[in-house]
Amino acid sequence: MRILILGAKGMIGRDLMEEFADDSLVELDKNELDITSQASVEKATLELNPDVIINTAAYTDVDAAEQNCELAMKVNGEAVGYIVEATRKVNAKLIQISTELPKNRSWQEAVKEYIQQKDVFQRNKI
Ligand SMILES: NC(=O)c1ccc[n+]([C@@H]2O[C@H](COP(=O)([O-])OP(=O)(O)OC[C@H]3O[C@@H](n4cnc5c(N)ncnc54)[C@H](OP(=O)(O)O)[C@@H]3O)[C@@H](O)[C@H]2O)c1
Repeated sequence: MRILILGAKGMIGRDLMEEFADDSLVELDKNELDITSQASVEKATLELNPDVIINTAAYTDVDAAEQNCELAMKVNGEAVGYIVEATRKVNAKLIQISTELPKNRSWQEAVKEYIQQKDVFQRNKI
């Protein structure tokens, strides 16, 4: 199985590379693929033709997101849409690592709650 990991130099990306070391892995970090470029996301996906894409790329500086809300939204929101579209084009599966759901709540309840957050990071992750 060919697995493409995006955001590969991040904490979770590095863990996943170890975990799936026996599979056919392609890892791309921000220098190799900036996920905010739709054209680049599509080109890389079509060229690599993975079975599974795991997106761990994200704007994760919660405090800085308050100042850089446009960039945070682009990386955590819009760019995920580019990855979804590219994934469909190659008929692959996408695993999107988003955020932790609060314990003891359904995901629907958690999403409702997160949408109402004033915090930029929480909102753009949803
Ligand atoms: N770690 C946890 O315990 C945890 C828990 C729950 C959810 N998550 C979620 O899991 C995901 C990964 O978390 P993490 O802890 O691995 O974060 P991380 O260590 O900050 O890694 C994120 C990676 O994404 C890269 N990145 C940022 N902007 C990018 C762009 N435009 N194009 C491509 N790559 C880009 C970063 O590169 P630069 O560093 O060069 O900017 C970094 O390598 C995030 O969505 C996070 O919210 C993590």
